[in-house]
Amino acid sequence: MRLHPLAFPALIAATGASAAALSTVCTSSYVTDSLPSIVGIEFGSVSAVAVYNYSVAAGNSYPGVSGRNFCNISVAYSHTLKNDSVRARFQSETKPSLANATVKVNVYYYLPAPRQWSSRFLATGGGGFSINSGLSGLEGGLVYNAAVGLTDGGFGSLTTVLTDVLIPANGTMAWDLLVNLAYLSIHEMTEIGTGMATNFYTNTSKVYTYYQGCSEGGREGWSQVQRYGTQYDGAVIGAPAFRQAFQQPNHFWPQIQQTVAGYVPNTCEIQKLVNDTIDACDALDGKKDGVIGRTDLCRLHYNASSSIGSTYSCAASSGSSSGGGMGPVGASGGSGATPAQNGSITAKSVAAWNALIDGPYDSKGRHLYVGFQPGNQGASDVAGSYNSTSSTYYASASGLGGQWIDMFLNDIDSEELSLEGVTADNLRAWILQGYQKYTDTLMTVWPDLEDFQQSGGKVIHYHGEADNSIPTFYEQGIDALGDFYKLFLIPGAGHCSPAADNGPFPQTMIGSIIDWVEHGVAPEKVLNATILQGDLEGTRQDICAFSTRPEWKGNATVQPECVWPDREALAAWYPTLDSIPLSVYGLA
Ligand SMILES: *[C@@H]1O[C@H](CO)[C@@H](O)[C@H](O)[C@H]1NC(C)=O
Ligand SMILES: *[C@@H]1O[C@H](CO)[C@@H](O)[C@H](O)[C@H]1NC(C)=O
Ligand SMILES: *[C@@H]1O[C@H](CO)[C@@H](O)[C@H](O)[C@H]1NC(C)=O
Ligand SMILES: *[C@@H]1O[C@H](CO)[C@@H](O)[C@H](O)[C@H]1NC(C)=O
Ligand SMILES: *[C@@H]1O[C@H](CO)[C@@H](O)[C@H](O)[C@H]1NC(C)=O
Ligand SMILES: *[C@@H]1O[C@H](CO)[C@@H](O)[C@H](O)[C@H]1NC(C)=O
Ligand SMILES: *[C@@H]1O[C@H](CO)[C@@H](O)[C@H](O)[C@H]1NC(C)=O
Ligand SMILES: *[C@@H]1O[C@H](CO)[C@@H](O)[C@H](O)[C@H]1NC(C)=O
Ligand SMILES: *[C@@H]1O[C@H](CO)[C@@H](O)[C@H](O)[C@H]1NC(C)=O
Ligand SMILES: *[C@@H]1O[C@H](CO)[C@@H](O)[C@H](O)[C@H]1NC(C)=O
Ligand SMILES: *[C@@H]1O[C@H](CO)[C@@H](O)[C@H](O)[C@H]1NC(C)=O
Ligand SMILES: *[C@@H]1O[C@H](CO)[C@@H](O)[C@H](O)[C@H]1NC(C)=O
Repeated sequence: MRLHPLAFPALIAATGASAAALSTVCTSSYVTDSLPSIVGIEFGSVSAVAVYNYSVAAGNSYPGVSGRNFCNISVAYSHTLKNDSVRARFQSETKPSLANATVKVNVYYYLPAPRQWSSRFLATGGGGFSINSGLSGLEGGLVYNAAVGLTDGGFGSLTTVLTDVLIPANGTMAWDLLVNLAYLSIHEMTEIGTGMATNFYTNTSKVYTYYQGCSEGGREGWSQVQRYGTQYDGAVIGAPAFRQAFQQPNHFWPQIQQTVAGYVPNTCEIQKLVNDTIDACDALDGKKDGVIGRTDLCRLHYNASSSIGSTYSCAASSGSSSGGGMGPVGASGGSGATPAQNGSITAKSVAAWNALIDGPYDSKGRHLYVGFQPGNQGASDVAGSYNSTSSTYYASASGLGGQWIDMFLNDIDSEELSLEGVTADNLRAWILQGYQKYTDTLMTVWPDLEDFQQSGGKVIHYHGEADNSIPTFYEQGIDALGDFYKLFLIPGAGHCSPAADNGPFPQTMIGSIIDWVEHGVAPEKVLNATILQGDLEGTRQDICAFSTRPEWKGNATVQPECVWPDREALAAWYPTLDSIPLSVYGLA
């Protein structure tokens, strides 16, 4: 199958001559000849179309660029799953046999023009239950002159997500497709992509291999460096949706608390509580800019109960109030529009808010899972949806929780779930059930990164401190990993994007990992970042490496000092979870 392009002297002459090179090499036959041969993978159709003078608009995770030329490639392949040695060490679950399952997968690549010879490959991931972020997800690679790829995971199309195909019939799960999302398809896409790039760019002997993704894409990133440690030189991993057995049912916690307490807060109350939290905690970092830079101090020094009795008032809104982007669960007929709202904050409103901050406790008072940081903007899971027929608010969560319980735990093709009679103890049972079923796949908490570290791999891990979808919490011992792993908590940022005005975001994160891997320049104390929205837009404001935390002393110049938090503030990041008798962070 694989003919090294060096076998074509005419092409070498053409590529060496630079200008006309793209049209010469961006052909399906040249690309087909560049494909590596991989055991278990059989290639089908290949398409290659040259794209000239392409502009990339700046995103949160890369700056803009213009004038890029690249080869736009799609490759179809089928694979047959086999037992392999890498999987062996994860084999701790009972699950359907994977042997002989054949899946057809499509992978997509942008290869920068030979004129800009690349020696990098960037793998990308998805979000929610998607394994890619669409073709626009490839644009970050062009900015950094990297060949870049994504996969459809074998789900049938680029826009099909796992939950569209997971349950072919009630009672049956497409476990092979689940494995594709869990870790296999991105690994294969990367193996094909780096092999192809090495052959396509004939003068490159070493292709550095990178990964970038956030949310589910962050979990996918961890799945790669955990399982295929020698394959990646560097990974930028944002807000990983790992520990899925906890993360997904936890989306129901606010609704469970509200149903049990018999009180559903409206969007205006939640906005008021968010505003009061920001007012009270903004300056704890030494700088009054509307951004809570120290949610740990906020957690220690502020309690939303101080808002009880204060009044709120909001105009009518036509906007969407149900978070998570997936509509209400367990009911239909609610609407995103809300009437004008006013009233005063009560103890019940505060209980709903504090439940979000504290996370779930079971009926014996034991802590089940972590909560969100104060300063999160709340809307995703806590505010109710408005029923315009009854003029009341009802509890409504992101659809991910319902999909998890129905599809992933019970193999039923549904995402509706009644919360009637459901308590935190049901939540606990769901977590245990998911933990047993997905230890090896979607939990993605294998704690041993030795292969990755030994082969020189580096990780930049970031997480918005005001994330309202995946709680921001970590495990002790992070400081000891600094030679290959750095964690950055981003003040004021939400889920994979800026949230608070005037908060920084690490837009050049791909450049930062390239600097670390290729030039040995580590983000030792800070990660390069820029304020992307608000009055201070465009100002550089670096992000402190955890466990140090930002503090502005005296004149609040733009760069923070990165200080070591005191013991109490540090402990706020490591809550004790004593309900589930299993390790949350790694395999028990
Ligand atoms: C490339 O695109 C830019 C707009 O982004 C345009 O101004 C320029 O003329 C184009 N160059 C060529 C050679 O087509
Ligand atoms: C790349 O090719 C795909 C089809 O494989 C197409 O949908 C997409 O628009 C192309 N991208 C560009 C930038 O031309
Ligand atoms: C896969 O590996 C498991 C554990 O080593 C073994 O029990 C099983 O028979 C193997 N299946 C196939 C199809 O080889
Ligand atoms: C796998 O394929 C082989 C050869 O076609 C067949 O003998 C075997 O029974 C199949 N195994 C399973 C688990 O379907
Ligand atoms: C699968 O089960 C769900 C829940 O019971 C039901 O709503 C749905 O109609 C069933 N689907 C099929 C195809 O039977
Ligand atoms: C490959 O050749 C191109 C064009 O001569 C050059 O710009 C590039 O630096 C070379 N890349 C490597 C890795 O040697
Ligand atoms: C929250 O603060 C924003 C920004 O100052 C303001 O526009 C909004 O009206 C406030 N909402 C409430 C409910 O106080
Ligand atoms: C916040 O205040 C409420 C009501 O006074 C109290 O029940 C709760 O324990 C407090 N929370 C913390 C974390 O101190
Ligand atoms: C909205 O209220 C009406 C009237 O009480 C009720 O029939 C309907 O089920 C409610 N819808 C939701 C989504 O709660
Ligand atoms: C609160 O809402 C009621 C009913 O819409 C209205 O009559 C009243 O003026 C509002 N009060 C304030 C302070 O906005
Ligand atoms: C840091 O970010 C700024 C934008 O604020 C950018 O101009 C600069 O190139 C970045 N530095 C690195 C090393 O990426
Ligand atoms: C802080 O220092 C800068 C630069 O020296 C100065 O321009 C600014 O006015 C100072 N701000 C305050 C509040 O003192």
